[in-house]
Amino acid sequence: MFLMATLGTLFFLGVLPSAAREHQGHISVVLLGATGDLAKKYLWQGFFQLYLDEVSNGHTFTFYGGAQAELERGQKLMFDRLKRLTCPSDVSPDRCAMLKDQFLRLTQYRQLKTAEDYATLSQDIATMLSQEDLEEAGRIFYLSVPPFAYAEIARHINSSCRPRPGAWLRVVLEKPFGHNLKSAQQLADELKTVFREEEMYRVDHYLGKQVGGGPGSTQWRASVSSGYNLDRITADLRAKCLPAVTHILPFRDQNRQYLDPIWNRHHIERVEIVLKETVDVKNRTGFYEEYGVIRDIHQNHLTEALMFLTMELPANVSSSQDVLQSKLRTFRSLQDLEKSKVVIGQYEEYNNHVREELQKGPDYFSRTPTFAGVLIHLDSLRWEGVPFILTSGKVLDERVGYARVLFKNQAFCTQNETAWDSESSQCKRKQIVFYIGHGELNSPAVLVSRNLFKPVMPGGSWKEVSDRPWLRLFGQPISDYYTYVPVKEREPYAILISRIYHGKKDSFITTENLLASWEFWSPLLDSLAGEAPRLYPGGSQNKHLLDFEMAGREVSFVAKEALEVMHAKDEQAPGQYKTLQSRFRQNQLVTDWAEGLIGRLASDVEAAAAGAVEKSGQFHLALSGGSSPLALFRQLAAHHYGFPWKHTHLWLVDERCVPLTDPESNFRNLHDHLIQQVRVPYYNIHPMPVHLNRRLCVEDDKGPELYANEIAALVANGSFDLVLLGVGMDGHTASLFPNSLVGLEGSPDVVFAESPAKPHQRMTFSLPLINKAKQVSVLVMGKRKHDIVTLVSRVGHQPQKWPISGVNPSSGHIAWYVDYEALFG
Ligand SMILES: *[C@@H]1O[C@H](CO)[C@@H](O)[C@H](O)[C@H]1NC(C)=O
Ligand SMILES: *[C@@H]1O[C@H](CO)[C@@H](O)[C@H](O)[C@H]1NC(C)=O
Ligand SMILES: *[C@@H]1O[C@H](CO)[C@@H](O)[C@H](O)[C@H]1NC(C)=O
Ligand SMILES: *[C@@H]1O[C@H](CO)[C@@H](O)[C@H](O)[C@H]1NC(C)=O
Ligand SMILES: *[C@@H]1O[C@H](CO)[C@@H](O)[C@H](O)[C@H]1NC(C)=O
Repeated sequence: MFLMATLGTLFFLGVLPSAAREHQGHISVVLLGATGDLAKKYLWQGFFQLYLDEVSNGHTFTFYGGAQAELERGQKLMFDRLKRLTCPSDVSPDRCAMLKDQFLRLTQYRQLKTAEDYATLSQDIATMLSQEDLEEAGRIFYLSVPPFAYAEIARHINSSCRPRPGAWLRVVLEKPFGHNLKSAQQLADELKTVFREEEMYRVDHYLGKQVGGGPGSTQWRASVSSGYNLDRITADLRAKCLPAVTHILPFRDQNRQYLDPIWNRHHIERVEIVLKETVDVKNRTGFYEEYGVIRDIHQNHLTEALMFLTMELPANVSSSQDVLQSKLRTFRSLQDLEKSKVVIGQYEEYNNHVREELQKGPDYFSRTPTFAGVLIHLDSLRWEGVPFILTSGKVLDERVGYARVLFKNQAFCTQNETAWDSESSQCKRKQIVFYIGHGELNSPAVLVSRNLFKPVMPGGSWKEVSDRPWLRLFGQPISDYYTYVPVKEREPYAILISRIYHGKKDSFITTENLLASWEFWSPLLDSLAGEAPRLYPGGSQNKHLLDFEMAGREVSFVAKEALEVMHAKDEQAPGQYKTLQSRFRQNQLVTDWAEGLIGRLASDVEAAAAGAVEKSGQFHLALSGGSSPLALFRQLAAHHYGFPWKHTHLWLVDERCVPLTDPESNFRNLHDHLIQQVRVPYYNIHPMPVHLNRRLCVEDDKGPELYANEIAALVANGSFDLVLLGVGMDGHTASLFPNSLVGLEGSPDVVFAESPAKPHQRMTFSLPLINKAKQVSVLVMGKRKHDIVTLVSRVGHQPQKWPISGVNPSSGHIAWYVDYEALFG
């Protein structure tokens, strides 16, 4: 009743003088979680702003706050907040009071718990529309509730709150959207049954908030009934990402003429995407324990910035569809992440917070990272080799966020620094920075080094900064940059709500986009589970503890000592076995923890390569499949820059009868982990011909013969410089299996074999070919291999039973590389 009277009053007040003629339709806004922190702090103010901006443009509005609290209490909570709404500074106090009054009259509280509550709400909207003779334009549902409540609310909306046919529905969901690929997929599948893709607005990349306590805690329950508790500071910082991050694409678009020649690996040295926070996660560990910094920040905010920086620019950057497609293509070009590309840390007080808030005992140690530095590479002509560093953490020394593109300096400067003029000198650092906020500038900004170009900025919305000449940013005085800040800094939630109202879908994360991001991050998150983060004291006391450096395609902390001290607590003192044994089956034995062992083997391979190249100009290396060599490949690719790849021939010791592109293919693994990363000439790469005439390993195709001929043609005397072998748990090596005579004696050098494991068909070097090698290295790692190692150490020459025991190069050496776990179990 109250509401209907109100609309009439509006016409009477003259707020909508010509509305009857120009009326564009009525919009109902429903805010779920209307009494929660986020609503109190930002959302109501945002909707009020929307009302102020749009009410004279022809739409009429009603606003409904929904929560679980019963009517009287909820109403009181909500209206306490609404009384404190503020107007922009250019609105006079009298007018502001009037506008607030109008807004309050258009707003009502609803208890929304049951299916009936939603049905009643919808009926009331319909009744009001018909009584006021209004055409419905659409409905906005803003879900400021924990994600586990989404599904139920979503079903209610779909089953009873859809607007009339022809009017739109927009449902706003806030992150988190799952905590890995699987849960995100599940949630997406659920939502798909109730909403169409264009109806969903995921607020993910720049606004954030967290809930206090885990399920079951009182804070959690409180947050369910009222909406989210809000990490105000964090939300505020991320909210600021909006202008800066969403400006990246338009900036690239408007400055194509300058950027086209230089936005690539030839000119860009590296890119840093950083969000540093000073706050801790006190009161919110229930949420944080399950997420950690990578899920909280990297997976969404930083990834979004990465995409905007790296995607190929569509011809029309205003087309959300084109932008999305380009983004998805960029996701596919991201190189897989591995543990070696990440450093993680945890602020020291974190464990105390967890123990207090989650009622854990004193011996509970969380391994949730609160800091992470991640190194990302892309496989694309534009970006190959350019490192992207994504960093974020809590309790750091400052609060700042930026995406910074550093250009290579191609010039050598003969004159001393006093002669360098910032505009014309090619000697000064060149960079473009999309500044998110806080830090020295305390505002979103775009900075472009003056020696690059004077950027084109959209007139009216950005202005040049000239009032703070003393500032230094990223190691240079501000006078070295063209610096632009927004003319008017709007409340981020007001911008967000305005975008929802205008249906600008490109500011929101689509389902495909979301899943692509989880697909990229989930494997890393899985592999990090249980990794010990480096502890840091927090703030300026962190000193250089969290500095990290790139070495090839890996990162590690610069200060190594602290790491070792921490690890020593976890593991028994290493080194105690170092001198225990040095021979195995009367041959050389090298043993260490896995990492050290791989390092040693890689160095030995490099030394062998250098020796062979010096002697004969070539190095013939034959490699096995399996998982142990992958670590070796990565080590060689990442750390051995002196390796004579140009003169190295790569051969396969054995191969599975699958296409070379199959993930099971030994060659595919060799390709992905080594060949792709190093500069071996194509004509030096020799995959086994398992796939001929469009069929796999058929006798008639004579694959083994072809390979043997290739070896005979290129490898002097068929004697490889180095053959790398492994040992299976049944004693097999290469694809020579126990209880089979295949490949054990005589010629031919290359044969088909049958494996007891799938895929059964294999092609393999024969034992005689292996034994012609100048050097054979056998790599054995992992606890699972302990039994076979023990056994093989005792048996004599019995190749039919234990094929590995038949490896005995007639005029070469054999060396065993066995890690502690395999050797001692
Ligand atoms: C919404 O609910 C109706 C049934 O009321 C159902 O037929 C429809 O598939 C649901 N989902 C969407 C996206 O409309
Ligand atoms: C954490 O919660 C306690 C009790 O609810 C409150 O007194 C304190 O201010 C909160 N601390 C922060 C940092 O929000
Ligand atoms: C670019 O895309 C937008 C949104 O789809 C469209 O309105 C506009 O007409 C397009 N511009 C051009 C030049 O195609
Ligand atoms: C650098 O060059 C300027 C002249 O351009 C000269 O005055 C100055 O002394 C030089 N600085 C040094 C350290 O030599
Ligand atoms: C090839 O074998 C012959 C005879 O066994 C030997 O004299 C020659 O040195 C070998 N060549 C190489 C490159 O090992």
